[in-house]
Amino acid sequence: MAEDTLTITDNRTGHEYTLPIADGTIRASDLQQIRGEGDDAGLMAYDPAYLNTASCRSAITYIDGDAGILRYRGYPIEQLAEEATFLETAFLLLEGELPTAEQLHRWEEDVRYHTYVHTNVQKFLEGFRYDAHPMGMLLGAVGALSTFYPDAKEIGDPDGRYLQRVRLMAKLPTIAAYVFRHAHGLPYVLPRNDLDYIGNFVNMTFEIGGRHEPNPVLQRALEILLVLHADHEQNCSTSAVRGVGSSHVDPFSAVSAGIAALYGPLHGGANEAVLRMLDQIGSTENVPGFIEEVKGGKGRLMGFGHRVYKSYDPRAKLIKRVADDVFEQTGLNPKLEIALELERIALEDEYFVSRRLYPNVDFYSGLIYQAMGYPTDYFTVLFALGRLPGWIAQWEEMLGDPEQKISRPRQVYIGEPERPYVPRAERS
Ligand code: CMC
Repeated sequence: MAEDTLTITDNRTGHEYTLPIADGTIRASDLQQIRGEGDDAGLMAYDPAYLNTASCRSAITYIDGDAGILRYRGYPIEQLAEEATFLETAFLLLEGELPTAEQLHRWEEDVRYHTYVHTNVQKFLEGFRYDAHPMGMLLGAVGALSTFYPDAKEIGDPDGRYLQRVRLMAKLPTIAAYVFRHAHGLPYVLPRNDLDYIGNFVNMTFEIGGRHEPNPVLQRALEILLVLHADHEQNCSTSAVRGVGSSHVDPFSAVSAGIAALYGPLHGGANEAVLRMLDQIGSTENVPGFIEEVKGGKGRLMGFGHRVYKSYDPRAKLIKRVADDVFEQTGLNPKLEIALELERIALEDEYFVSRRLYPNVDFYSGLIYQAMGYPTDYFTVLFALGRLPGWIAQWEEMLGDPEQKISRPRQVYIGEPERPYVPRAERS
């Protein structure tokens, strides 16, 4: 009978080793017993950027990148996007099951109760320059929350963790809205607890003079986008939250590390980069020339490609549908034509086909956010609002995993061997 083991022969020594295989993996630490001659410290796995290394066991999100499948806690993303609210999705990610009506009510009420932020947070935000990037403000403000809630350090206390979870979910939209108002030179609008999660956020961003006419189609579209962004297993920002959280820092600090990682143009910042790219292309006639430049190594087609998806990102498919609903309300975004032409040409081009590069979640989301009235540099803030429950769920899963320790990769040292210090006067 076949055995779940891997037999390795070390040709340096002729020794043979048998390592157990579990869940399609071998343990990198099992390689350590494989030693060459002398004081060899044992074999390590070298895997820059974790291309083929599982860093944890997780029960939260399942992705099949070849088949274009995404599920939260077993539920297909298509069904959640169709049926679930964002807070319901957050509960699912955090608790592992869909809430009963009573559980959902309590969760919504708890979040509603904590939407206000300390007035000093407002003062703190006022200190940013008028043109500060919203993501810089967001990550600073969320990190600063740890100073307002020193009890958040008690990460071993389940009730305390629940409270911090609620605070993060409740206060991130408030801070995000304040960041929006700051950039527009508008006074901050306080949370309204008679509104639902999305309605309150939209009101805090767009209300002028006490008035805002909510558009239910746009609000549901925003909610779907947040559901689609809610988790994506061990991506760059989630790994940042887990890695920083593994030092047992408070969750506000860990989440602010996630926001920092998300800010980058290869991650969440791609939605902003897509819009800048579409602006730069200008019109559909320029698309073939732009594609040739990308193929020639002059930059990337932003919003295309993914480390895990090697077929159409299922979120991008759903977002395209949301775009139809939104543009019906707002009128067509002229850049949509350029995006569609880019997609059409890229999907037929050997360069993109052979590398299995397809539109990802960021390709169309920016166009929708723009149509909703959000400025380009704000798009990644909306991504952060969506990703928050995933970050918290992954952080808590990491804390509860007895196999996890402080995150501390090894390295292959390639620098100078030992050499004596050269006095300053003797250096040439
Ligand atoms: N445009 C042109 N070529 C690309 C692109 C692209 N968008 N993405 C990958 N390639 C090429 C790359 O040059 C390389 O070619 P070669 O084998 O000839 O060197 C090959 O495809 C493999 O690329 P890679 O950089 O090794 O792939 P990766 O898994 O390290 O990178 C990625 C994944 C998402 C960072 C990358 O595809 C990319 O930079 N995309 C554009 C930025 C983007 O849209 N990011 C959002 C990702 S989805 C949402 C999120 O996670 O935040």
